[in-house]
Amino acid sequence: MVTTNKQSEVETSAALVLRSAAFQFIISSMAPVTDRAAGATIAAISVSVVLFSYLFIKHHPKDRSTKNTKPFSLSKRSPKNGVVGAIGNTPLIRINSLSEATGCEILGKCEFLNPGGSVKDRVAVKVIEEALESGELVEGGVVTEGSAGSTAISLATVAPAYGCKCHVVIPDDAAIEKSQILEALGAHVERVRPVSITHRDHYVNIARRRAAQANELALKRKTEEQLCVGDLEQINGHIYDGETQDYSFLSNCKGGFFADQFENLANYRAHYEGTGPEIWEQTGGCIDAFIAAAGTGGTVAGVSRFLKEKNPNVKCFLIDPPGSGLFNKVTRGVMYTKEEAEGRRLKNPFDTITEGIGINRLTQNFLMAELDGAFRGTDREAVEMSRYLLRNDGLFLGSSSAMNCVGAVKLAQSIGPGKTIVTILCDSGMRHLSKFFSSEYLSRYNLTPKAAGLEFLESR
Ligand SMILES: Cc1ncc(COP(=O)(O)O)c(C=O)c1O
Repeated sequence: MVTTNKQSEVETSAALVLRSAAFQFIISSMAPVTDRAAGATIAAISVSVVLFSYLFIKHHPKDRSTKNTKPFSLSKRSPKNGVVGAIGNTPLIRINSLSEATGCEILGKCEFLNPGGSVKDRVAVKVIEEALESGELVEGGVVTEGSAGSTAISLATVAPAYGCKCHVVIPDDAAIEKSQILEALGAHVERVRPVSITHRDHYVNIARRRAAQANELALKRKTEEQLCVGDLEQINGHIYDGETQDYSFLSNCKGGFFADQFENLANYRAHYEGTGPEIWEQTGGCIDAFIAAAGTGGTVAGVSRFLKEKNPNVKCFLIDPPGSGLFNKVTRGVMYTKEEAEGRRLKNPFDTITEGIGINRLTQNFLMAELDGAFRGTDREAVEMSRYLLRNDGLFLGSSSAMNCVGAVKLAQSIGPGKTIVTILCDSGMRHLSKFFSSEYLSRYNLTPKAAGLEFLESR
């Protein structure tokens, strides 16, 4: 039996007191009768006290926890259980420069410190865990996603921890570093022509199809094994179109699952169950407002819902980049004119330099958000804010985080000093070297930063 130090200490002191009680009993038995009776009483009381204390300490829950020490506990300071255990519980930091400039406490949730480098690690874990629980994904299966950014990197980071593979479909105009990182992480990357979301071959639609194909191939293999028949051309009415021939890795998987970060509510739940409660706990419930931009909408939805359930007086806001229809939707109830709707555009127009935020359709995740209002942010404001935070706070942040900080300052100016405002620091500047932090790229779009202070901020 393994005994802890604390337990053996207790046992040693109990033995000592027991021994002294026994000694007292022997001495008292040698004394006159009246003294003997008193001595025997004292000895009996001592023995009962010692036995009671010993039993109490031995069976006290606190003691049990030290006895059954698990290799990895949930304590914040103890070792985490693998890469998945290291996701979440990110620090909430005071952004000193912005807090001092506005008179509000502006706090940033450091999601860039997650192992996969972004807020999307939480989503990847939740999507995979829910799919494994429901049986839609099995160990040895492949998770597919159409993403040019952080979500794909997070899925590729965590999938191996669940015994799964990752297949990512990205538009071929996405920065080459993205596919290099994904391939280095062991994901299978398919680069495709950028087309509208309504097109069958939009990268998101291809990713959905790849999961279905992996499922059908797994079923085919299983049926072949069971029936011992050769090439089956048709399973459950589906005829293979020959596309999978180029993706032989799909045929080695035990089925596929399309992560579907835009519509899969596991995304929202990752923030409702994780990011939101952490913010509430880290602020001790002293929070007046929350603001963030939306890509899928999972973050603003999960955090706003959780905070408002805790305290309906917490105000939640959106900061929206150029080209996105969400500002109009939140402030006026209408998202866009017919001409602006996603799918009417021929190709991806240059709307914004910020990555991962802004959208022109309503996703299931965004629909879960509870918002009190919205602000607009420009590319120039995001670029200038990123350099301001680097100079003043040593914070090296990506474009969406910079936009969130633009939102936090606009919100502070609108609600006045003395309030506590929380925002999300989604990823680090490291992921944005070829565009957001490239002087050449910025000068091409007339976005070279030049501000000394916060004078670049436009009103609302
Ligand atoms: C870097 C980055 N920041 C922010 C977001 C937006 O978060 P959400 O999708 O939860 O709205 C994304 C989404 O892809 C992202 O990649």
